[in-house]
Amino acid sequence: MVTGASRGIGAATAGAIAAAGAHVVLAARDREALDGVAGRIRDNGGEATPVTTDVSRLDDVEHLFGTVERIGSVAALVCAAGVLRSAPFEQITPATWAETLDVNLTGSFLCCRAAFIAMRRARDGRIVNIGSLSGVYATEKFPGLTAYNVSKYGVIGLTEAIAVEGKAHGITAICVSPGAVDTQMLRQANPALRPGLTPGDVAELIVALLDSPLAAASGANIPLFSNA
Ligand SMILES: NC(=O)c1ccc[n+]([C@@H]2O[C@H](COP(=O)([O-])OP(=O)(O)OC[C@H]3O[C@@H](n4cnc5c(N)ncnc54)[C@H](OP(=O)(O)O)[C@@H]3O)[C@@H](O)[C@H]2O)c1
Repeated sequence: MVTGASRGIGAATAGAIAAAGAHVVLAARDREALDGVAGRIRDNGGEATPVTTDVSRLDDVEHLFGTVERIGSVAALVCAAGVLRSAPFEQITPATWAETLDVNLTGSFLCCRAAFIAMRRARDGRIVNIGSLSGVYATEKFPGLTAYNVSKYGVIGLTEAIAVEGKAHGITAICVSPGAVDTQMLRQANPALRPGLTPGDVAELIVALLDSPLAAASGANIPLFSNA
């Protein structure tokens, strides 16, 4: 299952996972875009099921995982859904703060928790959360991104905590924290920044991680610095 699969890193990851042979469930809010991603996967011979989902809403996440159960077991979850709302610190409204934390952190929590319950039954499962260099101590921070940065520090902590409790149940969790990736989010947030990574770069790493025994690295955060 991939959240944030309607575009960007999530869409590329969904395509790469399907190309590796898995039936991929696509979650995001934009149904038309999800159908487009699912259609391209099927055109390439893969299997995809789009499920319209707002990851910050518990009822949507329950519906998503109910749909997955009718398809099969959740072998892997990739949480790529995210928003970035830029504002100078003193102008951040409680609404902007709440939306950012609700989608980026609580959305990841809700999906990871639902996946954990299913994976615990199967005694097997792998989770990849998408953090950001924004959530890594001592990397360069950009002004206007306080809420986003805080949400990503949370995602990295969430992943470490899941790894601790997942160990006894065969569940592993890894966080991947990219620098600038060429997506709509980055283009809107910082049009002047030249991204050194493509969504395909990140997707390739995620598939490699999901394809390997993650146990020794479970709980780790992998920062991705561009080579460009
Ligand atoms: N681009 C970068 O430079 C960069 C760097 C580091 C980390 N990241 C992280 O990578 C992840 C993917 O971002 P991206 O760069 O690919 O951005 P993007 O192109 O803007 O994609 C964001 C995705 O999140 C989905 N989304 C947003 N709110 C949602 C919600 N409430 N429920 C479900 N889905 C939601 C969007 O779909 P809908 O609008 O259809 O819901 C879209 O599929 C994010 O977590 C982002 O923080 C990005």
